Amino acid sequence: MSSLRVLFLVIVSGSAANMEITNVSEYEAIAKQKLPKMVYDYYASGAEDQWTLKENREAFSRILFRPRILIDVSKIDMTTTVLGFKISMPIMIAPTAMQKMAHPEGEYATARAASAANTIMTLSSWATSSVEEVASTGPGIRFFQLYVYKDRNVVEQLVRRAERAGFKAIALTVDTPRLGRREADIKNRFTLPPFLTLKNFEGLDLGKMDKADDSGLASYVAGQIDRSLSWRDVKWLQSITTLPILVKGVITAEDTRLSIQNGAAGIIVSNHGARQLDYAPATITALEEVVKAAQGRVPVFLDGGVRRGTDVFKALALGASGIFIGRPVVFALASEGEAGVRKVLQMLRDEFELTMALSGCTSLSKITRNHIVTPSELNHSISRL
Ligand code: GLV
Repeated sequence: MSSLRVLFLVIVSGSAANMEITNVSEYEAIAKQKLPKMVYDYYASGAEDQWTLKENREAFSRILFRPRILIDVSKIDMTTTVLGFKISMPIMIAPTAMQKMAHPEGEYATARAASAANTIMTLSSWATSSVEEVASTGPGIRFFQLYVYKDRNVVEQLVRRAERAGFKAIALTVDTPRLGRREADIKNRFTLPPFLTLKNFEGLDLGKMDKADDSGLASYVAGQIDRSLSWRDVKWLQSITTLPILVKGVITAEDTRLSIQNGAAGIIVSNHGARQLDYAPATITALEEVVKAAQGRVPVFLDGGVRRGTDVFKALALGASGIFIGRPVVFALASEGEAGVRKVLQMLRDEFELTMALSGCTSLSKITRNHIVTPSELNHSISRL
């Protein structure tokens, strides 16, 4: 090989290794390269045709801005208060399961990064670190995502442990009476690697996941999760905890009203990262219906497809009090551990601040519905021409 060719290869491979990350989406390709296929596919996949997965992103790209100009934006305040807790920005961390499959530090790294950014982390029921272990990483405002098991003693114990460990709210997942059909997991015979456990359930004999003929997680859910969960159980949950309950997985006005009637302290508009019911609308499309039905009585949050600061702004303009990010965190974790998660939060923060500046908004309360235009409004104004 000529020395010129060797030099070229060194430069090319060197630059690939040090590829500068300039937006959160770029972590996915690195994670795909680093992770075993079974793990990458588990994090990345949506349900069935993955229509909703694509739509969660595309629906954001159809919303355009109506920026205001000549406003002094030399100071921008992104702080906000969620359920009474002051945080540095309306960007929080969604629950994603089994983070130690992505990186040995798993949920510890995520907890530290969230706390360094002064924002909220939501820990999954199916974490590979327990509520106590995550609490031991240091101070931080944390929510606990809850799956309701058939055995209510298990749920009671877990909720009490989360309370004692200082978690501040329960995000009750309501869209998973059965697991969505994730075909990659079926093909890969997905299961939790044997050196890991669902740490919160370790002492309860529910921490392991057996291998199955299809998805090991789907079988686990079929065996353990309560399909009969109903509004009555939202009330029951309030009888066993004083923590505020966020109902996670609402995408209609009807369920918004029922959530409020049944004591929800807030609503998370979520389609479970497009992993449950395919052809459910993008969360950014469903958001305004939920916000209108909530009538300001409880805060409404959103997860699903947020990859840019402009997405955060669009969600707030449509009435969200904040957003949660899921996949960007696991992909960054896989790529660079805690440093990656810190960087994801910082990049989204910077982009969001820039969006506010370029739209003429100096604080979150200045972001209004008039700062954006949705596809139906665009069609309407075009048809009037
Ligand atoms: C975990 O919550 C999953 O949907 O896989």
